[in-house]
Amino acid sequence: MADGTNARGAAGPARLAVFASGRGTNLGALLRAFPPAGDAEAETVLVISDRSDAGALEVAREAGVRALHLPFGRDREAFEATANAALRASQVDLVALAGFMRVLSPAFAEAWRGRLLNIHPSLLPAFPGLHAVRQALAAGASRSGCTVHFVDAGVDTGPVILQREVPVLPDDDEASLQARIQVEEHLAYPAAVRSVLRGEARDDGTVGSAR
Ligand code: GRF
Repeated sequence: MADGTNARGAAGPARLAVFASGRGTNLGALLRAFPPAGDAEAETVLVISDRSDAGALEVAREAGVRALHLPFGRDREAFEATANAALRASQVDLVALAGFMRVLSPAFAEAWRGRLLNIHPSLLPAFPGLHAVRQALAAGASRSGCTVHFVDAGVDTGPVILQREVPVLPDDDEASLQARIQVEEHLAYPAAVRSVLRGEARDDGTVGSAR
């Protein structure tokens, strides 16, 4: 990837897939940076959602990207097998989890190691898991932010690629702090993807420290 080839060793832009369960504003930011065609480093080729009503599917369709609803149900293995087949069929090099509200298996994380990214609305390792913004407020944190990291077998535990910080203001509620963090997320995710594609951040501890 850093040598101008994508993860399949082929020349040309890397092929990006995004998993999302929600509104898809981070997906939108990724699509602005990496539309289906036009960027030299990456093109978004596939969006997968576990929810049929996810705004992200609509965002993908509007951008002309293949949008796939794959129910998660109780069968994570079946979801992952189908997702893997779709990722292979679309020759995907890199997967970005963007508000994907399911925990993928250690086997899936291992299979995609170094090529599977997540964004989380806190300065990890602070406040992992659900309701990170609420957790930061409850803890009385004076600053928070977002983290893009490689996914490992844990939940929000993989090596950090990039973080962006925001202040927590005295009159913040969950919505106001989340909105401030999301502005930073939309800058952080495309930057982190580029840093991985350029080989500046690797899933071996040699990660960048851009803030
Ligand atoms: C983001 O805040 C992300 O950090 C979290 O879920 C949210 C997704 O938002 N994991 P959106 O669907 O991208 O707007």
